[in-house]
Amino acid sequence: MPITITVRKNGSLGISADDAAQIVLLDADGAVIPPRAEGRPMSLCRCGASKVKPFCDGSHKEAGFIDPVDAPVDTPAS
Ligand code: FES
Repeated sequence: MPITITVRKNGSLGISADDAAQIVLLDADGAVIPPRAEGRPMSLCRCGASKVKPFCDGSHKEAGFIDPVDAPVDTPAS
């Protein structure tokens, strides 16, 4: 299976591969960011609330993160 990135509904970006060593996460300077937990699927925060960025720590639930695709759209007053 190829490296797969899953946009989780109202949550993180899940990254998985048959061989976790195929997944290399780099910071803005090109340095390797070690996985948070060896042998577990990588999960990246996209809500901004995680205390362990760039990884998801589940804070999106408390933050009430709603996927922008599903977020209500403000309608202009007429
Ligand atoms: S997506 Fe989970 S803490 Fe941000």
